[in-house]
Amino acid sequence: MIHLANLYEFWVPDKSAYHAVNIEGTRNVMEEALAAGVSKVVHISSQVIYGKPEDDPFTEESTPAPRYSLYAEKVPRRPGGLGAPHKRYPGQASIETQTGAGKMSKALIARFSQTGTTDRVAERIAAGLRSAGWEVDLWEIAQDGTPDLAGYELLGIGTPTYFFRPPFVTTDFVRSLPDLSRLASFVFVLYGTLPGDCGNWLREELRAKGARDLGYLSATGADRWVGYVKRGYLFSPDGPTEAELTAAEGFGRTLAERHGAQALDVEPFDGPTPFMYRLERFLVNRSQAKLVYSKTFRADGNCNACGQCIALCPVNNITARADGRPKWHSDCLLCATCELGCPHDAVHAAFDWPIFAPFMSYNIRHALQRATPYVRVEHSRGKTRRV
Ligand SMILES: Cc1cc2nc3c(=O)[nH]c(=O)nc-3n(C[C@H](O)[C@H](O)[C@H](O)COP(=O)(O)O)c2cc1C
Ligand code: SF4
Ligand code: SF4
Repeated sequence: MIHLANLYEFWVPDKSAYHAVNIEGTRNVMEEALAAGVSKVVHISSQVIYGKPEDDPFTEESTPAPRYSLYAEKVPRRPGGLGAPHKRYPGQASIETQTGAGKMSKALIARFSQTGTTDRVAERIAAGLRSAGWEVDLWEIAQDGTPDLAGYELLGIGTPTYFFRPPFVTTDFVRSLPDLSRLASFVFVLYGTLPGDCGNWLREELRAKGARDLGYLSATGADRWVGYVKRGYLFSPDGPTEAELTAAEGFGRTLAERHGAQALDVEPFDGPTPFMYRLERFLVNRSQAKLVYSKTFRADGNCNACGQCIALCPVNNITARADGRPKWHSDCLLCATCELGCPHDAVHAAFDWPIFAPFMSYNIRHALQRATPYVRVEHSRGKTRRV
């Protein structure tokens, strides 16, 4: 059998066509040949393996610089793959080491987003990677379980900051990942006033799993934390800004460049989290969330069993009782979305306790001192209005 079909174009609008025709197409031919008992397949590649050579005329001894078609040469000899090794071209070894430059690389961006700001940044990073020829899949951390990372070369984790660290759902997701020494990684976090150790923790965890850290991005996101909103402050109301979204797209392109680079110059870690914020973070750690705060949620007499809080909870921590009223469980992120989203202001929880008031005043005062952008708001009946 002779196989010489390939997509012979230097540019096509949809770059995945190279992968589909030249790689998957060849794989199909080989698999069909195996199934049909064909004893020999001759795969004819193309002079295009030499790219745009400097030599004129160029010969078989010229340095190969393939883009796509010859990547198919790898298919018959992939681990556990098809058939016996086949005849090599002169210079084949160097061809194989270079084919990575032309293949369609795949990235997975896993993110958690409640109010959509992390989603928006994820989309723009994905757009940047795609414009550099990458295939990108997006993954919902709170809904999609643990991904199968086979086939991916790059893993991105995106999350909002909750209490100067990642939300528990993101932490659990990252901890559940397998060894990542085959992969490169990047992290992006959204924050309203101060990201604290959110990005640092994620980067360290991914590095500890063996991933090669390709970079870090942080951007602002409108901060709907109940402690601020109920005191009349919406910090970073316009985050992520257009400039931050443009930077996110540029970050995607930079990741693509860094992926092929030997030496890396990546963004530094964020600075240390001030003591007061570490204390706050300690007060809302996971065991306190499980054993103390999750037990403080209640719906008062204004609850009409509308089910809105149940629908809003990002981790299904609320179920309906027989009468339709909400019942809270202990797997809570302490995001307070149920409290803020109730159209009858019927939800009450520990966030309203006076013990937290000094911390909230401190945070607001310091956010204002750092010149964090904000607007004044009023919140009632599930809606936040600018005033
Ligand atoms: C429960 C909760 C805690 C938060 N804690 C912090 C924080 O410690 N530091 C900060 O800068 N922003 C904090 N924020 C703001 C979010 O990180 C920010 O609004 C982010 O853009 C939300 O992302 P999302 O729209 O993808 O859900 C918090 C928000 C919530 C709801
Ligand atoms: S959103 Fe409010 S009114 Fe609706 S079920 Fe929940 S507590 Fe009750
Ligand atoms: S605070 Fe409310 S909405 Fe948020 S995770 Fe806990 S139960 Fe769900």
